Amino acid sequence: MAYAVGEYYERVSDYDLEYQEQSEQDVPFWRELVMRFTPDRVLELACGSGRIGIELLRGPGNFALEGLDIAPEMLTAYRRKLALEPEQVQRRVTLYEGDMSDYQLPNKGLFDLILLPFNSICHLYELEQQIATFKNTYDHLRPGGRFVVDTFLPDIDYLSDALNRPSHVYMEGEINGPDDEFTMLLYSSRKYEVIEQTQHIVWTHEKFFATGENERYLTRLDMHVFFPRELQLLFLISGFRIDAIYGDYDWKPFGRGTRQIVVGRKS
Ligand SMILES: C[S@@+](CC[C@H](N)C(=O)[O-])C[C@H]1O[C@@H](n2cnc3c(N)ncnc32)[C@H](O)[C@@H]1O
Repeated sequence: MAYAVGEYYERVSDYDLEYQEQSEQDVPFWRELVMRFTPDRVLELACGSGRIGIELLRGPGNFALEGLDIAPEMLTAYRRKLALEPEQVQRRVTLYEGDMSDYQLPNKGLFDLILLPFNSICHLYELEQQIATFKNTYDHLRPGGRFVVDTFLPDIDYLSDALNRPSHVYMEGEINGPDDEFTMLLYSSRKYEVIEQTQHIVWTHEKFFATGENERYLTRLDMHVFFPRELQLLFLISGFRIDAIYGDYDWKPFGRGTRQIVVGRKS
C-alpha cells in the first residue's frame, strides 16, 4: 500500500491559518514541559513551519533548538518566520530537511529532549518505520534524555463511521483569511482500514475571496492510528522507560482526556 500526505503540507499559509487555534491549546503545554525539564538541547521531529518551535524560543530558557521535517515548503516558512525574530534567537536554531524514520544529526547522543508533537507520529505508517524512528531517536538522546510523543486517543465510534468505506463528509470549520481577503471552508471524509490501522482522509479546502472568485482544492492525508498499548510498546522495545502519560494538554491523567502524551526516558 502506498501512503500519502498529498499536498496537505505544501500549502503552508493555509496550514498555519487552520491550526492557529491548536496553538492556544498545545503551546502552553510544550512551554511548561520545557520549563520542567530545563533542557540544553532540544529537537523537534516533524517540526513543520515552526508553529510550536518559534513559541518555545520566545518562552523561558536558552536551549538550542533543532528541527527536522520532510517537507521543504514547511521549512521555508519556518525560516521566513525565524528571520523576523531577534538575532540571538535565530542563532539558537538549526533546521534540517529529512525523514524522521531515517535521520542522522551532528549532535547525535547530545539531545536532552526530543519532541514529536501534534499527531505527526501518525505519518509513520509501517512498523519498520516506527521502530526505526524510536530506536534512532533513543540513540540521539543523551543518557537520561526524554522523548515526548503527542497523539490523539483513538475513538472507536468515530473510526467505526468510516470502517472500510468512506464516511460522510464532515464540515470541519470556517476560517477567515488575513484582512478578510477570503473565507475558507474545510471539509473532510475518511476511510478507516482496520488491518493497517490507517485513516485515508480527503480534505477539501474551499476559498471564497472578497473579489468574488472561488478556489477549491482536494488533498489526501493518510494517518496511522496508534492504540495506547501499541504506542507504549514502541517506547519499551526501543529501550525507553515510560515516565508519564498525560491525557491532554492540561496535564490530565491518561484516560481522562482525548490524547495520549507519552514521556519516555533513556536510562
Ligand atoms: C501535523 S504537522 C505538525 C507540524 C508541527 N509539529 C506543528 O505542530 O505544527 C506534521 C508534519 O510532519 C511532517 N512529516 C510527515 N512525514 C514526515 C517524516 N517521515 N519525517 C519528517 N517529517 C514528516 C510534515 O511535513 C508536517 O510538517
